[in-house]
Amino acid sequence: MQEYILKDDDFLVSQTDAKGIIKFANDDFCKVAGYTLEELVGKPHNVVRHPDMPKAAFKDLWETVKRGEVWTGYVKNKTKDGGYYWVYATVYPMKDPHTNETTYMSCRRKATEPEIQEAQNLYKTLR
Ligand SMILES: Cc1cc2nc3c(=O)[nH]c(=O)nc-3n(C[C@H](O)[C@H](O)[C@H](O)COP(=O)(O)O)c2cc1C
Repeated sequence: MQEYILKDDDFLVSQTDAKGIIKFANDDFCKVAGYTLEELVGKPHNVVRHPDMPKAAFKDLWETVKRGEVWTGYVKNKTKDGGYYWVYATVYPMKDPHTNETTYMSCRRKATEPEIQEAQNLYKTLR
């Protein structure tokens, strides 16, 4: 599988509803993942899930943001054409002051080679 290495200034943003359904993705996210915005909106965020990612990482992510806290971590994602890319993600909850709706945002930058190595070693020990 082909690795896509992010550019230093790539900044991938996506937003989900309370259940993890994609509401928005920015141009960098669409470009790297290989989807159009129309293809992503309305899909569960696991559309980019890579099988190498341990369930425990996403369990921790969801538990953290549902508590109202910020989750950070390394994520290996799958591209539409079957490749993959690594990011360092910051995920946080947001409450719309008008509708009271809780949504979640993820902002991602490039993960460096040593960061990827460390995350890979850790994820091998998790399920
Ligand atoms: C704002 C936000 C962004 C997310 N981004 C990703 C992502 O980039 N890749 C991913 O695999 N899961 C992401 N998730 C987690 C997914 O919702 C899902 O829990 C994960 O893909 C595991 O899939 P599963 O729950 O079907 O096992 C994100 C969740 C939230 C709330």
